[in-house]
Amino acid sequence: MKIVIANDHAAPELKFEIKEYIESLGHEVINIGTDSSESCNYPEYGEKAARMVASGEADLGVLICGTGVGISLAANKVKGIRCGVCSEPTTARLIRQHNNANMIAFGARIVGGELAKDIVKAFLEAEFQGGRHQIRIDMISAIENKN
Ligand code: RB5
Repeated sequence: MKIVIANDHAAPELKFEIKEYIESLGHEVINIGTDSSESCNYPEYGEKAARMVASGEADLGVLICGTGVGISLAANKVKGIRCGVCSEPTTARLIRQHNNANMIAFGARIVGGELAKDIVKAFLEAEFQGGRHQIRIDMISAIENKN
Protein backbone atom coordinates (compact mmCIF):
# COMPACT_ATOMS: atom_id res chain seq x y z
CA MET A 1 0.00 0.00 0.00
CA LYS A 2 0.94 3.65 -0.34
CA ILE A 3 1.05 5.31 3.07
CA VAL A 4 1.37 9.06 3.57
CA ILE A 5 3.09 10.10 6.79
CA ALA A 6 3.04 13.60 8.27
CA ASN A 7 3.97 15.21 11.56
CA ASP A 8 4.75 18.47 13.29
CA HIS A 9 7.89 19.57 15.13
CA ALA A 10 7.11 17.28 18.10
CA ALA A 11 7.75 14.17 16.05
CA PRO A 12 10.43 14.16 13.32
CA GLU A 13 12.52 11.49 15.06
CA LEU A 14 9.60 9.17 15.72
CA LYS A 15 8.38 9.81 12.16
CA PHE A 16 11.67 8.60 10.66
CA GLU A 17 11.60 5.51 12.86
CA ILE A 18 8.00 4.73 11.84
CA LYS A 19 8.66 5.48 8.17
CA GLU A 20 11.48 2.95 8.12
CA TYR A 21 9.32 0.44 9.97
CA ILE A 22 6.40 0.79 7.54
CA GLU A 23 8.82 0.33 4.64
CA SER A 24 10.16 -2.82 6.30
CA LEU A 25 6.58 -4.16 6.22
CA GLY A 26 6.65 -3.80 2.42
CA HIS A 27 4.70 -0.57 1.95
CA GLU A 28 5.62 2.59 0.09
CA VAL A 29 5.81 5.66 2.33
CA ILE A 30 5.27 9.23 1.16
CA ASN A 31 6.81 11.53 3.77
CA ILE A 32 5.40 15.06 3.54
CA GLY A 33 7.23 16.41 6.60
CA THR A 34 8.09 18.19 8.64
CA ASP A 35 11.58 16.75 8.87
CA SER A 36 12.62 19.51 11.29
CA SER A 37 12.11 20.14 14.99
CA GLU A 38 11.63 23.86 14.31
CA SER A 39 8.19 25.00 15.44
CA CYS A 40 5.48 24.62 12.79
CA ASN A 41 1.69 24.31 12.62
CA TYR A 42 0.21 20.80 12.67
CA PRO A 43 -3.03 21.71 10.80
CA GLU A 44 -1.00 22.34 7.65
CA TYR A 45 0.49 18.84 7.73
CA GLY A 46 -2.70 17.12 8.82
CA GLU A 47 -4.69 18.71 6.05
CA LYS A 48 -2.12 18.01 3.34
CA ALA A 49 -1.87 14.31 4.26
CA ALA A 50 -5.65 14.02 4.56
CA ARG A 51 -6.17 15.48 1.09
CA MET A 52 -3.79 12.88 -0.33
CA VAL A 53 -5.82 10.08 1.28
CA ALA A 54 -9.15 11.62 0.26
CA SER A 55 -8.00 11.93 -3.36
CA GLY A 56 -6.66 8.37 -3.49
CA GLU A 57 -3.05 9.51 -3.94
CA ALA A 58 -2.34 7.51 -0.77
CA ASP A 59 -4.25 4.49 0.52
CA LEU A 60 -3.89 5.29 4.21
CA GLY A 61 -2.25 7.95 6.37
CA VAL A 62 -0.21 8.09 9.57
CA LEU A 63 -0.10 11.34 11.53
CA ILE A 64 2.06 12.25 14.50
CA CYS A 65 2.10 15.37 16.67
CA GLY A 66 2.68 15.82 20.39
CA THR A 67 -0.54 14.08 21.45
CA GLY A 68 -1.91 12.98 18.07
CA VAL A 69 -5.03 15.03 18.76
CA GLY A 70 -4.37 18.35 17.01
CA ILE A 71 -3.20 16.82 13.76
CA SER A 72 -6.12 14.36 13.75
CA LEU A 73 -8.63 17.17 14.30
CA ALA A 74 -7.27 18.93 11.22
CA ALA A 75 -7.34 15.73 9.13
CA ASN A 76 -10.91 14.95 10.15
CA LYS A 77 -12.08 18.27 8.68
CA VAL A 78 -11.33 16.93 5.19
CA LYS A 79 -14.32 15.22 3.58
CA GLY A 80 -13.99 11.45 3.50
CA ILE A 81 -11.38 11.28 6.24
CA ARG A 82 -11.85 9.07 9.29
CA CYS A 83 -8.83 9.50 11.54
CA GLY A 84 -8.59 8.01 15.03
CA VAL A 85 -6.10 8.79 17.77
CA CYS A 86 -4.62 5.60 19.25
CA SER A 87 -2.19 4.91 22.04
CA GLU A 88 -2.40 1.11 21.90
CA PRO A 89 -2.79 -1.55 19.18
CA THR A 90 -6.30 -2.80 20.03
CA THR A 91 -7.89 0.53 19.19
CA ALA A 92 -5.69 0.76 16.11
CA ARG A 93 -7.06 -2.59 14.86
CA LEU A 94 -10.66 -1.73 15.71
CA ILE A 95 -10.69 1.66 14.01
CA ARG A 96 -9.94 -0.18 10.74
CA GLN A 97 -12.29 -3.12 11.36
CA HIS A 98 -15.29 -1.14 12.62
CA ASN A 99 -14.81 2.51 11.68
CA ASN A 100 -13.04 2.01 8.34
CA ALA A 101 -10.53 4.61 9.51
CA ASN A 102 -8.28 5.70 6.67
CA MET A 103 -5.85 7.59 8.90
CA ILE A 104 -4.35 6.99 12.31
CA ALA A 105 -2.76 9.51 14.65
CA PHE A 106 -0.67 9.15 17.75
CA GLY A 107 1.42 11.34 20.01
CA ALA A 108 5.20 11.40 20.09
CA ARG A 109 4.91 12.73 23.64
CA ILE A 110 2.60 9.86 24.58
CA VAL A 111 3.92 6.66 22.99
CA GLY A 112 7.47 5.40 22.52
CA GLY A 113 8.91 3.92 19.33
CA GLU A 114 8.18 0.26 20.04
CA LEU A 115 4.56 0.88 21.03
CA ALA A 116 4.10 3.16 18.01
CA LYS A 117 5.31 0.34 15.73
CA ASP A 118 2.82 -2.10 17.27
CA ILE A 119 0.05 0.49 16.81
CA VAL A 120 0.92 1.07 13.16
CA LYS A 121 1.24 -2.67 12.42
CA ALA A 122 -2.18 -3.38 13.94
CA PHE A 123 -3.70 -0.55 11.88
CA LEU A 124 -2.12 -1.60 8.58
CA GLU A 125 -2.89 -5.30 8.95
CA ALA A 126 -6.55 -4.96 9.93
CA GLU A 127 -9.34 -4.88 7.36
CA PHE A 128 -12.73 -3.19 7.41
CA GLN A 129 -15.43 -5.73 8.27
CA GLY A 130 -18.28 -3.98 6.44
CA GLY A 131 -21.80 -5.23 7.20
CA ARG A 132 -23.46 -3.40 10.08
CA HIS A 133 -20.43 -1.14 10.33
CA GLN A 134 -20.98 0.20 6.81
CA ILE A 135 -24.36 1.57 7.86
CA ARG A 136 -22.66 3.65 10.54
CA ILE A 137 -19.95 4.85 8.17
CA ASP A 138 -22.70 5.96 5.77
CA MET A 139 -24.31 7.86 8.67
CA ILE A 140 -21.02 9.65 9.33
CA SER A 141 -20.76 10.58 5.65
CA ALA A 142 -24.33 11.89 5.78
CA ILE A 143 -23.36 14.24 8.62
CA GLU A 144 -20.47 15.48 6.49
CA ASN A 145 -22.84 16.14 3.61
CA LYS A 146 -25.07 18.32 5.82
CA ASN A 147 -22.22 20.79 6.40
C1 RB5 B 1 2.97 21.30 19.68
O1 RB5 B 1 3.67 21.82 20.76
C2 RB5 B 1 1.76 20.52 20.17
O2 RB5 B 1 0.77 21.40 20.60
C3 RB5 B 1 1.26 19.61 19.07
O3 RB5 B 1 2.28 18.76 18.67
C4 RB5 B 1 0.10 18.70 19.39
O4 RB5 B 1 0.30 17.99 20.57
C5 RB5 B 1 -1.24 19.28 19.31
O5 RB5 B 1 -2.26 18.57 19.42
